[in-house]
Amino acid sequence: MTDLFNFDTRVDRYAVMGNPVAHSKSPRIHALFAGQTGQKIEYTAIQVDPGGFEQALGNFQASGGKGLNITVPFKEEAWAYVDKRTARAELAGAVNTIKFEKGYVLGDNTDGVGLVSDLTENHRIDLQYKNILLMGAGGAARGVIAPLLQQRPAKLIIANRTVDKAVALAEIFKDYGSIEGCGYDDLDTSFDIIINATAASLAGDLVPIPPLCIAADSFCYDMMYGGTATVFMRWAKDCGALQYSDGLGMLVGQAAESFYLWRGVRPDIKSVIEQLRKELQA
Ligand code: ATR
Repeated sequence: MTDLFNFDTRVDRYAVMGNPVAHSKSPRIHALFAGQTGQKIEYTAIQVDPGGFEQALGNFQASGGKGLNITVPFKEEAWAYVDKRTARAELAGAVNTIKFEKGYVLGDNTDGVGLVSDLTENHRIDLQYKNILLMGAGGAARGVIAPLLQQRPAKLIIANRTVDKAVALAEIFKDYGSIEGCGYDDLDTSFDIIINATAASLAGDLVPIPPLCIAADSFCYDMMYGGTATVFMRWAKDCGALQYSDGLGMLVGQAAESFYLWRGVRPDIKSVIEQLRKELQA
């Protein structure tokens, strides 16, 4: 018999899966979103061993979990696992957001929209007709190419240490806009916007781009973030760039888009970036 007073007080559960994941900011970001929007959710971080992704995902779904964020190194595995993909996830070749729908698992990729919204809304940069340099040709770069091309830049150049990978990526996206792949040595002009999508900053390394790529009005963006300026940001400043940013806004932006997919509510991004910035610098 149904007890009319027995309301369902269970909280919808979400998590981020990755390896390593202990330092992920996602639980904090989603807690801030939930508080701000009055949504009752639980969001945890789950460390998954290599080879254990499918099992972990299946367990989370079977236990009634509603959705997941997927981070390094499982985004490509998540892409292969899901039953349906959004168009942007299909193109990205990687899934960072999963929603367990009735009867199927949906995969999305919100990284690109996170980057584009940070550039256009938070930094107020119009990408149309601009020359953009995207450094790196791995998963992080691939995930943002189509959303960048949708902004109709004059040209998107992908430069990578392993040149073949940049050329192959440009080939995949050639029908979506003006795009070209090359090596760092081939770069002989300055760019309006330079985006670092390599893993170099993680290791504290500098990407070998010629300083002539940077002009005073180049906007230099590192997808990495931290308590202090990244190696790339410091180098861009030394080369004379007046505007540079880390990727904290992209991180919060992609999380906001995942939150919207799951909850149908758009959280305020700016206040969460400000809060996280304070916490990072503390
Ligand atoms: P992710 O999923 O983070 O993109 P990835 O697929 O392993 O990781 O790709 C890492 C990217 O960072 C690649 O473009 C890599 O260049 P290569 O393809 O030549 O390996 C780039 N990268 C990593 N360390 C770098 C460094 N020290 N200098 C320049 N590029 C670097």
